[in-house]
Amino acid sequence: MKPRRTPPDPQLYVRVLDNVDRPVIALDRDGRISLFNPAAQNCTGFSERQALDQRFEDLFAGQEGLLYLVRSGLREGRSISDHENILLRRPIGPALSVSVSVSPLLNEQGETDGAVILIRDLSRIRELEEAVRRADRLSMLGAMAAGLAHEIKNPLGGIRGAAQLLAHELGPQKQLTEYTDVMIREVERVNTIIEELMDLTRSRPMQMSEVNLGRILGDIVLFQKEAHNSGAIEFSLQLDPSIPPLLGDADLLARLFLNLIKNAAEAIDKRGRVEIISKVASEFHIHKPGERPVPMIRVEIRDSGKGIAAEELENIFTPFFTTKDRGSGLGLATCQKIVNQHHGLIKVESSVGVGSVFTVSLPFLR
Ligand SMILES: Nc1ncnc2c1ncn2[C@@H]1O[C@H](COP(=O)(O)OP(=O)(O)O)[C@@H](O)[C@H]1O
Ligand SMILES: [Mg+2]
Repeated sequence: MKPRRTPPDPQLYVRVLDNVDRPVIALDRDGRISLFNPAAQNCTGFSERQALDQRFEDLFAGQEGLLYLVRSGLREGRSISDHENILLRRPIGPALSVSVSVSPLLNEQGETDGAVILIRDLSRIRELEEAVRRADRLSMLGAMAAGLAHEIKNPLGGIRGAAQLLAHELGPQKQLTEYTDVMIREVERVNTIIEELMDLTRSRPMQMSEVNLGRILGDIVLFQKEAHNSGAIEFSLQLDPSIPPLLGDADLLARLFLNLIKNAAEAIDKRGRVEIISKVASEFHIHKPGERPVPMIRVEIRDSGKGIAAEELENIFTPFFTTKDRGSGLGLATCQKIVNQHHGLIKVESSVGVGSVFTVSLPFLR
């Protein structure tokens, strides 16, 4: 004979309902609320005291989609659910996108004695769906931009060639060569934007090698010192001598730090400092389960420039976002891509009028 199963302690049911993170609401046969678990309180914004013994129809008055499901469940004694379309309005806070299922509660005789309502918060799922849609749009845009850039590049070369020939033909006629100079300069500017755009959208395989980050940073700083030789911007480079070579794509890493250091210098109006500090970040590791922690190298680019307003901060990595008259807005988008390709992280802290710090952390890959 099978041993009789001891019935579970009723307290267990209470504890389960108290702790489960899905909203659960039970109704008696008149549609009054007989159970309203803590998750239901969180989700709907009504307290247990406000909800218990109230008619569901009254508490959620006007929310026809929800009421339709509950009425059908109660009246017809069958399970019914809607996984897509319910927007739950709440006393405070924004409406929530939820899925709802209603099941009849049966008594010992098998008659409908009420209903139990299960709610699921879909807002997080909706956010993820939106993020995926945004990424899709961006990659579609990227593909279109890449195609367009390719088409523009050739005629642009033609225009530059013609302008150069024209300048040559005109000889030393000062006034007219001013025009050809403008033509050539502007064509070059468009060309730079097109090249940046192609860099951003092209997926060239990475050329991995052991990269000496100190050398790359040193070269960039030297170059920038020459470009800003008035002395109004003071560049300083502090390298941790113990940094071992890093496995990465040297060209891409150079472009990453050049973009950041140029931005830092461009943020400075009259006089100021740009500091580049690199060190091994002992406190910071990328850790994959079952693997040894990978140490990270951290490079900070600090400037005493104008800073970035809080409302701009979330947009600066978006392609084409720029606050500069002659900016392309592609620099930081490219930086983000290069950092991702190296499995690193980039973050920014900034305060208006004080300056900004861009921090790049890269793992030592083997
Ligand atoms: N160090 C910085 N200080 C202040 N603002 C910055 C800094 N770096 C980036 N920004 C802001 O982010 C925007 C986007 O930068 P970026 O993608 O490099 O494009 P661009 O330099 O062509 O404008 C800049 O226009 C600027 O407003
Ligand atoms: Mg830039």
